[in-house]
Amino acid sequence: MKDADVIVIGTPVYWSNMSGYLTTFIDHMQINNDLKNADLYAIVQGADSNQTAAINSTYGSLNRISIRFKMHFVGIAQTDSQIQKMHQKMIGK
Ligand SMILES: Cc1cc2nc3c(=O)[nH]c(=O)nc-3n(C[C@H](O)[C@H](O)[C@H](O)COP(=O)(O)O)c2cc1C
Repeated sequence: MKDADVIVIGTPVYWSNMSGYLTTFIDHMQINNDLKNADLYAIVQGADSNQTAAINSTYGSLNRISIRFKMHFVGIAQTDSQIQKMHQKMIGK
């Protein structure tokens, strides 16, 4: 992760939020400048077709975390078309 320009995080949706596994992973990251300026993308996967609540809660958490780690949070994708758009943005860089 320290060497990455782009970081893609995927998480299942549990109770309309990112998973506890991802929260635990983030909890164990050290706050320093190692991830500074990295582009952060996230993908959420849930059972329901509408993931507005999960996207909003995950967005809030990852946005605040990105500020602490000085990463550039690009956004969250859920559907295939959103993931395609995200990929285009990523490779267009
Ligand atoms: C504890 C738990 C809570 C879940 N909560 C939601 C939810 O709020 N919304 C949703 O769309 N799917 C929910 N799901 C379904 C999972 O997001 C979905 O099945 C996911 O793809 C499972 O990934 P996994 O096999 O890596 O756990 C939940 C699943 C579990 C086990």
